[in-house]
Amino acid sequence: MARRIRVGTSWKMNKTRAEAAAWCDALLAAPRIDGVDLFVMPPFTALALVADRLRPAGVAVGAQDVHWEDAGAWTGAISALQAKDCGATMAEIGHSERRRWFGETDETVAAKTAAALRHGLTPLVCVGETAAERDAGAADAVLDRQARAALAAGPAGVALAYEPVWAIGVGAASADPAYARARIAELRETAARVGAAAPVLYGGSVDEATCAAFIADAGADGVFVGRAALDARRFHEIARLCAAAAAV
Ligand code: PGA
Repeated sequence: MARRIRVGTSWKMNKTRAEAAAWCDALLAAPRIDGVDLFVMPPFTALALVADRLRPAGVAVGAQDVHWEDAGAWTGAISALQAKDCGATMAEIGHSERRRWFGETDETVAAKTAAALRHGLTPLVCVGETAAERDAGAADAVLDRQARAALAAGPAGVALAYEPVWAIGVGAASADPAYARARIAELRETAARVGAAAPVLYGGSVDEATCAAFIADAGADGVFVGRAALDARRFHEIARLCAAAAAV
């Protein structure tokens, strides 16, 4: 039987509400794809709009971050409670851009993961080594540390995204599928050691040309797409290619 896989995207800090609505309409106009669970992480400003449009079609919607508290004097932050109130069922936590630019640490990731679980949101926790850590042979140690911190918040219900920092963004190239396969296997072992069976997605410069290999060769449970999915038709095509790769 074909594996059921997940294909999702974060729009990061992109799209006005009108652009978000157009993206949703384009996705909804495209044929349904069997065997794939789709999810979208819009910016907070479009969260309710996207959830209203996509959730009836079975597409999950998540926040790109949540705070660890439910409410209080935390200027600029959004809580898991508020994200859920906008229709989110998932929360992305610990993306490397947030670790790098917004001071996210293993400790805040753990607290945010706990907050997401408390409100019934599926945390998608991003873990990944930098180029320097990879070159120092420390990739698996970094992944183990980051994943254990997140899984300590609740071994059940957490999903992981393996996102090597050096593979993300403009100018980067996706990881070699064999390299990703080894890291994903290590992450599964880390999860198993704490009694978790977390799905592990791959993210980092995924596009139409590379996506199938992460399903077929790297053994990922799905892919998490950035810039290639800012166009809904490309997101749909990536999902279609991943579904085909999972079906063989
Ligand atoms: P990218 O982003 O696909 O644009 O490299 C991936 C990510 O940050 O998850």
